Amino acid sequence: MHPDAREVLITEQQIANRVAELGRQISRDYAGREILVVGILKGAVLFLADLVRHIDVPVRLDFMAVSSYGATTDSSGVVQIIKDLEQSIEGRHVLIVEDIVDTGLTLKYLQDNLATRRPASLRICTLLDKPGRRKVPVQVDYNGFVIPDEFVVGYGLDYAERYRNLRDILVLKPEVYQK
Ligand code: PRP
Repeated sequence: MHPDAREVLITEQQIANRVAELGRQISRDYAGREILVVGILKGAVLFLADLVRHIDVPVRLDFMAVSSYGATTDSSGVVQIIKDLEQSIEGRHVLIVEDIVDTGLTLKYLQDNLATRRPASLRICTLLDKPGRRKVPVQVDYNGFVIPDEFVVGYGLDYAERYRNLRDILVLKPEVYQK
């Protein structure tokens, strides 16, 4: 285990199994249609890369980057688009892929924003859901794991841009982010 971690919350193998299940479920639900998968940079990149390889309907990829400010453990509630989509989503079946829903502010903003662009459908897939921190309700269509209110890193999730490359999802030792 990484020295900055207190415990392994979800192992690499558990992630792989669940991601494959989500891919199969999404493939069934979208049978006969093409999906425009919208990945939210940067945390969702690893999850998205694994997920789309378990989806067997046609897929296009696009990405957005949004930001709340600072290297803190709290979302500020201010969401800003840093990078927008490169293509129109009008008439497309859009699946937003996120790594985590925490307060829900990011996804609520994205959902409202993308809905105005007239997609044929708009769904949300997240690897992790931390319902204990929710400030605004968000309807998630596909969720990998419900997790407790712990500060988690790995498999795309960072603290101050570190730990994204770790293969398990780990709970960080509080002393690491309370310095
Ligand atoms: C994280 C995560 C979500 C958001 C969830 O992104 O990827 O986008 O926070 O939080 P919320 O539900 O409270 O809005 P972050 O801003 O850390 O960017 P990153 O993906 O580049 O790490």
